[in-house]
Amino acid sequence: SSPVPPVTIHRTAYRPPEWRVPEVALDFALGLEETRVTAALSVVRDADAPAPLVLRGDALTAEAVRVDGEAWNGWRMDGPDLVVDLGDRTAAVVEVDTRIDPAANSQLMGLYASNSMLCTQCEAEGFRRITFHPDRPDVLSRYRVRMEGDKAAFPILLSNGNCVATGEGEGGTHWALWEDPWPKPSYLFALVAGDLVVNRDHFTTLSGRRVELGIWVRAGDQDRTHHAMASLKHSMAWDEQVYGREYDLDLFNIVAVSDFNMGAMENKGLNVFNTRYILADPDTATDADYDGVEGVVAHEYFHNWSGNRVTCRDWFQLSLKEGFTVYRDQSFSAAMGSAAVKRIEDVRVLRAAQFPEDAGPLAHPIRPDSYQEISNFYTATVYNKGAEIIRMMATMVGPERFRRGTDLYFDRHDGEAATCEDFVRAIEDGAGIDLTQFRLWYSQAGTPRIAARLEGDAASGEWVLHLAQTIPPTPGQPDKAPMLIPLRIKAFDRDGAAQDTAEQLVLLDHADATVPLGRFAGRPMLSINRGFSAPVIVDCARAPGELAWLAAHDDDPFARYEALQQLMLDTLVAAVSGEAAERGAVVDAVRETLAGAAADPAFVAEAVLLPSEAFIGDQMVTVDPDAIRRERLALQAAIGEALESEWRAILADPAPPATDLSPAAKGRRRLRGVALAYLGATARDDAPALAFAIFSDADGMTERQAALATLAHGDSDERAHALDIFYQRYRDNPLVLDKWFQVQAWSLRPDTVDAVRDLARHPDFTLANPNRVRALYGAFTANQAAFHRPDGAGYRLLADLVIALDPKNPQTAARLIPPLGRWKRFDEARAALMKAELGRILAQPGLSRDATEQASKSLVG
Ligand code: ARG
Ligand code: ZN
Repeated sequence: SSPVPPVTIHRTAYRPPEWRVPEVALDFALGLEETRVTAALSVVRDADAPAPLVLRGDALTAEAVRVDGEAWNGWRMDGPDLVVDLGDRTAAVVEVDTRIDPAANSQLMGLYASNSMLCTQCEAEGFRRITFHPDRPDVLSRYRVRMEGDKAAFPILLSNGNCVATGEGEGGTHWALWEDPWPKPSYLFALVAGDLVVNRDHFTTLSGRRVELGIWVRAGDQDRTHHAMASLKHSMAWDEQVYGREYDLDLFNIVAVSDFNMGAMENKGLNVFNTRYILADPDTATDADYDGVEGVVAHEYFHNWSGNRVTCRDWFQLSLKEGFTVYRDQSFSAAMGSAAVKRIEDVRVLRAAQFPEDAGPLAHPIRPDSYQEISNFYTATVYNKGAEIIRMMATMVGPERFRRGTDLYFDRHDGEAATCEDFVRAIEDGAGIDLTQFRLWYSQAGTPRIAARLEGDAASGEWVLHLAQTIPPTPGQPDKAPMLIPLRIKAFDRDGAAQDTAEQLVLLDHADATVPLGRFAGRPMLSINRGFSAPVIVDCARAPGELAWLAAHDDDPFARYEALQQLMLDTLVAAVSGEAAERGAVVDAVRETLAGAAADPAFVAEAVLLPSEAFIGDQMVTVDPDAIRRERLALQAAIGEALESEWRAILADPAPPATDLSPAAKGRRRLRGVALAYLGATARDDAPALAFAIFSDADGMTERQAALATLAHGDSDERAHALDIFYQRYRDNPLVLDKWFQVQAWSLRPDTVDAVRDLARHPDFTLANPNRVRALYGAFTANQAAFHRPDGAGYRLLADLVIALDPKNPQTAARLIPPLGRWKRFDEARAALMKAELGRILAQPGLSRDATEQASKSLVG
């Protein structure tokens, strides 16, 4: 991430390491402003002929080098890297002394200071910012870590594995020695030192091992760790039951830190988390926040097998651990709550984040072929599309055979650094399926489109479904081969479900196919891609009446959701294109869906939500953000007014207590939030007062935030009042203050760009904290009409931020660039303004490798 000319790394250039490093001993003399590190690497040559030992570094200086205990002059720097000449030795112990300044580390990669504590983030290539090392995931070592520091500043000293010794040192210092028995790549190393308190618990594994669990936070936060602890224990039990995977150490620690680039990190035995995915209590966290904690705790825990015991050979294989682990955490969350609602949420995320990525200049396969900066490839494609690819395999073979495949995978590759190909082969061998053609999902980027068309024979009454797949060109991939696409489909008779056919799993493996559906009295109603069995776009002309029928009667809940969404989408796209708006069918379908609210409020709340502005834009050749906003608000107001008594009835039913976190209670709160948003979109005079009453009476954050968000769209006195109350009450709680920034950046008000510009100058805004940056700018770029203000003010604001942030934290800066890369989808005037901002970013002297890659690829288009 230092300003050097971009070098492209290619997947096919992989070579096995010339030196192995079976043992690593690290010695840390800790200090916030100066930490001294001595690393002793026992290296063993694997290459047949003598080869220099290349140890990667990033902004490090070697103060001394020793080989087998002797001072050694046979080394040189090659750019940032240390090259040690070991002559014809085949083994040696290489010791290197370095000195780092954690307090100055604003990149939050390597060893850094956060709130006076020291912590690490090494994935993907942060270990080389601590000491010189091959720092590639196929070099696995046993680690012994000794750390010493001031006892008052760092009373708690943690690393991977087990603490085997502690002691007192000179001048108020103390030390600890940690040993991790499991060989691991350097990206899984972690160290934490600071003044922390712990929530302790324990878990007994299936085979009877007692595991001590600890969640470490700052004093005062202990009471907000109980949900994370419960989630951890549920995850441990679930992975035993569903995948037969047990935990393998006596200790499992989690540390929460406020300044963190991503969500969390699965370091062996010492997960490090963004506080946002650990801390939760009803007063400060929404139900969605609780779900986020549960999902991320599970995700990192599951990595212990899918990532740590079996790791990645190189970073092109990232989806091997991330796609599989996201699939595992999604399945876990589905089992903990409502599977249907979880599936809807996961698909919504995929469509919001991954489909645009796959359709834009940064499109890449889940197993990329090249990169300049690997941090740029922690993407929705590698993670979320990666999870869909695993899910398709599971769908095709069913749960028992899939389990045989994953058992074989873990068995065969335990302790190894594996590839995506290894995973696919294990599923083939264990589950008994030929995945030759399916492998294209790993190499071809772009979201497949499927045209579906029904055809009937009047004489015989036999109906067939014609399917045709196309995969759009993506950068570097102009032509695509047809993929293997598993589609769950079902046809329903017009007279009702009584005569429906059985569901079929169609394996579409050619460009075209014709699927017999059976005999129907008239044109059947088609339910296709049920459960979202494949991550594709289906184009299928279905009349509003058919969609409404499916929304009401389909026996697959995801398909019911999808039918209503399609009906809303068709209506909105027609309105945006200037066709006369026919809103009646949508209103009727929403009314009918609402009738089921008592039975399943969570599902109903999801189903009746209008598609996002961005998703509406994704359906259009040229996105018209202003027309989309206008028509979406108009439809929302029409539904709000037509069903006013329904919404009021939902709100009249008192909210369940915030401490009730059962799926039913969460569902009711969700539905109340949706009802309030619909009422808020109407011109009813009492709407702001109603929202303000809910805001004031709320006993928890779900209701409070929903009411505040609704108020934030308007310009009532209640809005200003509520924002002020919220700020005063939570100004000392960073995670809640993030919400205060976020709701204002989400606002549908026409002056949101100006508001965001002012908020960026607010004393509580800081570039040092990635959560704060994302709360303001992440929310802002998701606010389509605001970000795409015709005069380009939104683009300028984002580019200014990227330019200011890049020198401090290139990783987080680069992740904010992609919204500017969508210029091809907008009118010429906007496209020119967006490209100009990309150009301005690229013209910055010393721009990071991270931002250079994102901006240059985005500009080329
Ligand atoms: N492996 C982590 C996770 O998904 C993500 C860490 C990525 N960090 C980074 N700085 N690129 O759980
Ligand atoms: Zn992960």
